[in-house]
Amino acid sequence: MSSENKQWIEVGNTDQIDMEDLIRFDHEGKTYAIYHIEDGFYATDGICTHEAVHLEEGIVMDDEIECPMHQGIFNIKTGKAMGPPVCIDLKTYQVKVEENKIYIEI
Ligand code: FES
Repeated sequence: MSSENKQWIEVGNTDQIDMEDLIRFDHEGKTYAIYHIEDGFYATDGICTHEAVHLEEGIVMDDEIECPMHQGIFNIKTGKAMGPPVCIDLKTYQVKVEENKIYIEI
C-alpha cells in the first residue's frame, strides 16, 4: 500500500491504557492491539499469528506481548515473533499522540 492510501485513525485516549497494558481496537473488520509501555504507545495487529487468538487478554512484559493461548511472545515495537510456537511476525503500525488522543496509521 502506498503512503497516500494510509490514514491516521483515532483509537482512544492515553488514559485508557494503563502502563504495561493494551487495548483492543476494531476497525473495518480488522483488530488492532494498542500498547502502553515504558517508551510510549505502540500498535500491532490484534490477532496472534499462531491460531488467530485475540491478544487483548495477553500479558505485556517490558516490550513484549505474551499470547494468552499458548504463551507465544512477540516484540511490541517490531512485531517480531520471538520463538515457538509463534513464527510469523505481527504487523506493526505507526502511532502518534496529540492532545492525549492516540492515532494509528493504517
Ligand atoms: S494462538 Fe497465540 S501462541 Fe498459539
